[in-house]
Amino acid sequence: MARDVLNGKKIVLGVTGCIAAYKSAYLLRELKKRGADVKVVMTPSATEFITPLTLSSLSQNPVVVNLFPPSQSEDTGLTTWHIDLALWADLILIAPATVNTVAKIAHGFADNALTTVVTAARSPVIIAPAADVDMYENQLTKENLQKLESLGFYIIPAEEGELASGLKGKGRFPETDKITDVAEMILSGYKKDLTGKKILITAGPTYEDIDPVRFIGNRSSGKMGFALAKAAYLRGAEVTVISGPSSETAYQEVKRIDVRSADEMKKAVTKELKKNDVLIMAAAVADYKPARKVAKKLKKEQKLSEIKLSVTDDILASIKKEGKTVVGFALETDNELANAKKKLKSKNLDMIVLNSLKDKRSGFEFDTNKVTVIKRSGRAIKLPLQSKFQIANKILNEILNV
Ligand code: CTP
Repeated sequence: MARDVLNGKKIVLGVTGCIAAYKSAYLLRELKKRGADVKVVMTPSATEFITPLTLSSLSQNPVVVNLFPPSQSEDTGLTTWHIDLALWADLILIAPATVNTVAKIAHGFADNALTTVVTAARSPVIIAPAADVDMYENQLTKENLQKLESLGFYIIPAEEGELASGLKGKGRFPETDKITDVAEMILSGYKKDLTGKKILITAGPTYEDIDPVRFIGNRSSGKMGFALAKAAYLRGAEVTVISGPSSETAYQEVKRIDVRSADEMKKAVTKELKKNDVLIMAAAVADYKPARKVAKKLKKEQKLSEIKLSVTDDILASIKKEGKTVVGFALETDNELANAKKKLKSKNLDMIVLNSLKDKRSGFEFDTNKVTVIKRSGRAIKLPLQSKFQIANKILNEILNV
């Protein structure tokens, strides 16, 4: 199993003064859990919201707050500590970043410990701003964030929702998972290379109803499809997920369309594909459905001995593909490579991702996967066992090269 990308990475976590600062403790715990070595730098106003002691206890490292030692006797002797810290970091993550810190960094200020370290940074810098809606939507803030993005900072936009003031709108600090996903993505060397692309992804199983209570389904969890959706969004794409019944979730910026059956999925794919450049059919679409759905619950006394089935439409084979990049999945138990290549040809795909049920910790329900990507040319690329998020990013790389 591949090592967690965050394991052993050196991260400077910058915390600034807004109410979301308390959430940095959860973020810090998650980074530590995943094996990162974290050193926290706080702005003086961040200490009004959360104590340095909390963050030093969680990080197991001293927390830097002051640019200068409070007195000569407390001097550490490390006169270029800000440079040392900036050079130490594989990644600087400012979460949450106030509009004040965003403005300072955008204008090259180095007036506190955090802005000074950022000015000296050689590593990538991720900024997750959080503020009340009017502060976040302020044109000055927008321009500062745009400027930082154009300079190569990775900005995680604030989310929409209820804010500490009671107002609703954009400004919410993102969920911890999204921030760690961005950290993993940046530390893996990915960037926003899918900007301008519109990607449609199907995920999960389909349920084919027998009666109002029972259905024919399959074991697909939706994890691979949702991992693809997250990775594609973080790399800048506009993403729509059409999901069968699945408990997986994407980020709030990913458009989600829930469907139940193969027929519903076909309708949704046909409609949405017109608005997208790429289709990735990661869903495990049922091949059979009950020939008719019974309106009332079937009773035991009916002594049912068989259910008549009919074949569902093959969505991938039947959709119009002109001008689109179309990627399928193939789930096989025998003759894997040959069967996947056959599907690639018969469904006229640009690429197919082969999942073998023979592989351990791979396929249904696992957070990890091991796949072979097969291109139209027949070239097969084996991807060893790794997290579905990492696999998703590698599939996206291949999509960029079809
Ligand atoms: N697929 C589809 N519509 C269906 C069945 C499958 O679009 N009714 C898509 C899946 O989303 C997947 C690809 O076709 O991307 C291959 O699915 P798979 O189940 O591996 O193959 P099938 O074509 O269904 O063939 P079989 O089950 O016989 O292996």
